[in-house]
This record gives sequence, C-alpha cells and structure tokens, in this order.
Amino acid sequence: HKQLTIGLFGFGVVGEGLYKVLQQTPSLSARIKKVCIKDPNKKRNAPPVLFTTDREELLQDEEINVIVEVINEAGPAFDIVKTALLKGKSVVSASKKMIAEHLPELLALQQETGQSFLYESAACASIPVIRNLEEYYDNDLLHGIKAIVNGSTNFILTKMFEDKLDFQQALLLAQQLGFAESDPKLDVEGFDAVNKWAFLLTHAYGIIEHPDNLLFTGIQNIHAMDARVAAEKGQQIKLVAQAQKLTNGKVASFVIPQFIPQEDHLAFVKNEYNGVVIESGFSDKQFFYGKGAGSFPTASAVLSDLSALRYDYKYEYKKLYHHQPNTLTDDFYLRV
Ligand code: HSE
Repeated sequence: HKQLTIGLFGFGVVGEGLYKVLQQTPSLSARIKKVCIKDPNKKRNAPPVLFTTDREELLQDEEINVIVEVINEAGPAFDIVKTALLKGKSVVSASKKMIAEHLPELLALQQETGQSFLYESAACASIPVIRNLEEYYDNDLLHGIKAIVNGSTNFILTKMFEDKLDFQQALLLAQQLGFAESDPKLDVEGFDAVNKWAFLLTHAYGIIEHPDNLLFTGIQNIHAMDARVAAEKGQQIKLVAQAQKLTNGKVASFVIPQFIPQEDHLAFVKNEYNGVVIESGFSDKQFFYGKGAGSFPTASAVLSDLSALRYDYKYEYKKLYHHQPNTLTDDFYLRV
C-alpha cells in the first residue's frame, strides 16, 4: 500500500502527540517530512530542521501526499485543508470547530477533488465513532444516539459531584491535564460539544446543520443543588448529546445536561472519558467508551485515519434525513 509522506500543521498537544506516536509505529510507513508552526521561538522536542513557519513549504511540496492539520484556529485550518485538497493531497484534520462550521464546503471539496478528508480524532478522540457510523449502521435502522462528547465538562461534573471540588478547581485541573480548550467557555457552555455533534449528525443521519442551528446548552447553570437532587434520585448529571428519530421520520437533536440513572451506560463514563450509546435495528444497543481528549488518545485516532489512507479510504456520508429543529423528545421529559 501507499507510502505516506506527511506535512504536519501544528505541534501542540495533538501534533507533538502524533510525532511521538509515529516514532513508535514504524510499521505504518508514515513519515513526517515537515512541520509548520506559528511560533518559531518555542522550545520543541524534535529536531529543528523539521520545522518551518512557511505553510507553502508543505503545501507546494510534491512529495508530501498527506496533510495532517491539528491547529487551533478554524479560519486558517479551513484554508489549509482547502488548499491541500485542491493540490491533490489527502487531508486528516482534528479541527472540530472548523469541520462543524464548514461542512457544506468540505463536502463539495471532497466531491470536486476526489481526495480523502478524514477526521476521526475530531469527535470522541480515541473512540472510532465516525468510522462506525459510516460503516456499521444503516441509517434507516438507526433509532438514536446518546453521547458524552466533551471530556472537560464530564471531568468537571465528575470532580465537582464525586470529589467535591469547586467548579474553578475542577476547571483548572482539566486545563493542567491538557484537555480543556484554551477558552474554557467553549467547553463549559457547550460550544465544543455541539461542534462535534454537528458532524456526528452528518455521519449518523446525513443532516448538515450549522451548529448555531442546533439546540444546545452547556453546564454553566449546573450547581451543587442540582447534583444533590440528582443524587437523591440515584442519578448523575451529564452533558449529553442526543439524536432521536421521531415518528414523523425526522430527527430531533439536542445537547443538554441530563439526569442519568445509574443503570444507564453513560453513568459509567467518568472524568475526561467519552461514551456513545447507539440504538439500531437488529443490533439493538451498543456502548462505546474511551478517552475523548488528550495528546495520545487524540493522536491514536489521527493514526487510524493515516492507516485508512493507505487504502485511500473515503467517507461516503449517508442518505439525508431532515432535522426537526428545537425539539426535545418525549422520553427526555419523562426522565426529567
Ligand atoms: N476540550 C475538548 C474536550 C478536547 O474536553 O473534550 C477534545 O476535543
């Protein structure tokens, strides 16, 4: 299969993680040729010849056949992905916000260029959720999905309600451990979760909706009192993303803190872990569990995309379902 010569954009938590992971996986025959970074003065744990601040050194290099883009800013990330695809390179990205906000253009670019654009790491990091939705489930049979897709808020809720840390301490710890966004508001107020949810909905149901049009709220209004009420009912509070097929054939979607009973699979998901429960015809119910943030868990998913690229794997996306905006399902009310 194909030899991968990689141009890497970004050498932060994920980029450096990938660099280390590739050093330990020689059988993949993937080599990082050049890394484009923003700040040349930062100390990096890699040979200086690897680095450049000139993005064209990667994008114009004919030998580089894969661009891996793991930078933090959505605008420049989209620009890099677009240019790379148009140059005939495959692209692997971890930029969830960029993917969520540019889905229609990214789909058009894939059609136009015929190149692979993969982003398994962008949602639930180490859990192969996109590949699963793409390959395993017929979306006519997919009844619904419930998922914890943001590690930081799950970590904060766990620390607040089980270890009795206050919100600020829990947030600080999440930041120190490297899974909080640089602007914590993105995690806490649900923006990160809804961004991931936007493209998971695409892979589940073919729905292409800008995250602004999806119903979501974060954990900003959850207080100790709420946790006490939950505990009295033998439940936990979790920030859950949910999609449910309605009887009219449309799909309801929401990202919202929910009371989760102890016997629910998602009750098992603690700290920065993520979890996904999929209900589907014939297969009944599956539960996926794993690390959804952090350097190596995210790099592991980038690695799986690189591995898939050796066989020119592409997403096919799915038949289009319609989204029923601003709808909470009946079972949601029943539980509250
Ligand atoms: N801030 C994100 C999270 C990082 O906490 O889940 C992984 O996308």
